[in-house]
Amino acid sequence: MCKKPYYITTPIYYSSGNFHLGHCYTTIICDAIARFKRLDGFDVFYLTGTDEHGQKVQEKAAAKGVTPQAFVDELYKQIVELWKVLDISYDKFIRTTDDYHELTVQKVYEKLLANGDIYKSEYEGWYCTPCEAFFTESQLTEDHRCPDCGREVHMAKEESYFFRLSKYQDKLVKFYEENPEFISPKSRMNEMINNFIKPGLKDLCVSRTTFNWGVKLPFDEKHVAYVWIDALTNYITSLGYLQEDHANFDKYWPADLHMVGKEIVRFHTIIWPALLMALDLPLPKKVYGHGWLLFGNDKMSKSKGNIVDPFFLVDRYGLDPIRYYLLREIPFGSDGNYTNEALLTRTNSDLVNDLGNLVSRTTAMVTQYFGGTIPAPNDYTDLDKELIALCTSTLPVVRQNIEDLSAPDALTNIFKIIQRANKYIDETMPWALNKEGNKQRLATVMYVLCECIRYSATLLLPFITKTAKVIFGKLGLEVPTNFDSLATFGQIKEGTVVNKGENLFNRIDINKELAALDKIAEEQAQAAAQSNKEATPAEDLIDIADFAKVKLCTAKVISCEKVAKSDKLLVFKLQVGEEIRQVVSGIAQHYDPEYMIGKTVVLVKNLKPAKIRGVESNGMILCAADDKKVIFVTPESDIDSGKEVR
Ligand code: MSP
Repeated sequence: MCKKPYYITTPIYYSSGNFHLGHCYTTIICDAIARFKRLDGFDVFYLTGTDEHGQKVQEKAAAKGVTPQAFVDELYKQIVELWKVLDISYDKFIRTTDDYHELTVQKVYEKLLANGDIYKSEYEGWYCTPCEAFFTESQLTEDHRCPDCGREVHMAKEESYFFRLSKYQDKLVKFYEENPEFISPKSRMNEMINNFIKPGLKDLCVSRTTFNWGVKLPFDEKHVAYVWIDALTNYITSLGYLQEDHANFDKYWPADLHMVGKEIVRFHTIIWPALLMALDLPLPKKVYGHGWLLFGNDKMSKSKGNIVDPFFLVDRYGLDPIRYYLLREIPFGSDGNYTNEALLTRTNSDLVNDLGNLVSRTTAMVTQYFGGTIPAPNDYTDLDKELIALCTSTLPVVRQNIEDLSAPDALTNIFKIIQRANKYIDETMPWALNKEGNKQRLATVMYVLCECIRYSATLLLPFITKTAKVIFGKLGLEVPTNFDSLATFGQIKEGTVVNKGENLFNRIDINKELAALDKIAEEQAQAAAQSNKEATPAEDLIDIADFAKVKLCTAKVISCEKVAKSDKLLVFKLQVGEEIRQVVSGIAQHYDPEYMIGKTVVLVKNLKPAKIRGVESNGMILCAADDKKVIFVTPESDIDSGKEVR
């Protein structure tokens, strides 16, 4: 039978910094849905990836003294490792720097231009000349100055390409009316209509010339694609749209679900559908805007970073407590607060007490009373039948929860079987049945319990992926590849050998563990403060006027590049003793970057760090200058870097 396709996507994550638990939240939810749908008989395509272009990436790379490509390559390695650690079952990972994607984005722009949906005009905004950057009114400082350098700005115009977003206003409204489920939850639909559609859509500037780390527009190479157009098209380029092999596109498009955070719903429900309309393509079936995972009410502290670092958490507690906590505890659609205490409490109450206990008690009793082999059941009593009915009725309920995208409800319903089965042990008192020698009833009770565990473990496969598999091992059963085995109760064969083995989860002493986490956080905060102090002792920071305090030293140029879109600026990586520094210097009109490599310069070492045209600079290279030329100062003969100049 031909399986029904199901296409689910995460947003593609910005490659501009380390990935944290918030990113994991979206990806784990999508993973649980994708796994559920696969087991439920769908042909699933689960897409995730990284958004690797844009000014922010370019600046971060420059600040680190590496090329943007090297910078995003490093983060790509990190995220792939993260998804491996979190057992994410994606079918494809797209990077916006992948060749096929870049080529297709170019084709998309060409198509839009040919159709008249893109036109050339002028972008008008506040311009800072030294920074060579445009700002909107709201980005300026309170006294109406450049937010980067604090200098005066003036109105300026720049040539740009625009997408005719305004043309799609009425079509979008009609589409929303005809597809009330398109934006979920419902509140987000109202937000889009009231905040963005009703005030009127303006055409969208879809090209940039102020930086160059992006997809070049094929018809005008000094422009790069607006990063959001580049990013959104990932959902179709990854399937082969406008490429030779487009079988996946034919099969999976339109997407069943774009899962996104609430702050990017606008891009997915206004710009993306309008773009698809312009390309004459069908629109996705649903965009779900989930809430945020907050850290201590949004105070995500750098010094405590490791505590919410997913690698740290998985290393300390194992994968499934983390997956379970995120899927069960955070109310879907609204914001939820991450706390260590809630994670540990959930682990103890649901995973240790409920699930872990049920499995260990049952396998221990089968071992003790039946030598480790599951006995055949005898006649079922009303009590057994109640439990059996709960098992067989849960899949449709959970299916509906997944349809409603509510993992907390799905898990609550699965755990009803587990909690009911634990109560059943107390009610049937197998130890008393054994004492009375009532082996017939004892056999039925053991069988019902093993079946309850089989049902729960099958339903838990999408959520706590590793533990669910371990449970099948303990029951001596194969891990199922679909939900077919849930159709009828009584699938376990008599004589199946259980294996009690280790506990699934170990109880955590919450107070002790919280104290240990506090101590780790404190040590990290101290280490961070110490390294900051060593890197730039605060008392050494000076104003340039206080010349007497200036610390000068020799530095060797390791690399030197032009700052993008700047005629005057060069960005240097300097060896200063053991340290490597990034310094921006305005000598591009006097020196070729290549000429500078290997030269020894004199560095003002204790100048306050500054951002020049958005690029971080830690120091200043000394130069002599007259009206016509600028010449850097260099020691008269060879000397190591980092040596004091006095
Ligand atoms: N690159 C864009 C998306 C382009 S999709 C065509 C982007 N990237 S992002 O890295 O900033 O965010 C990716 C997703 O992670 C977003 O859906 C965002 O909401 C989510 N999260 C980032 N921090 C989060 C939390 N603290 N909690 C929950 N989700 C969070 O936007």
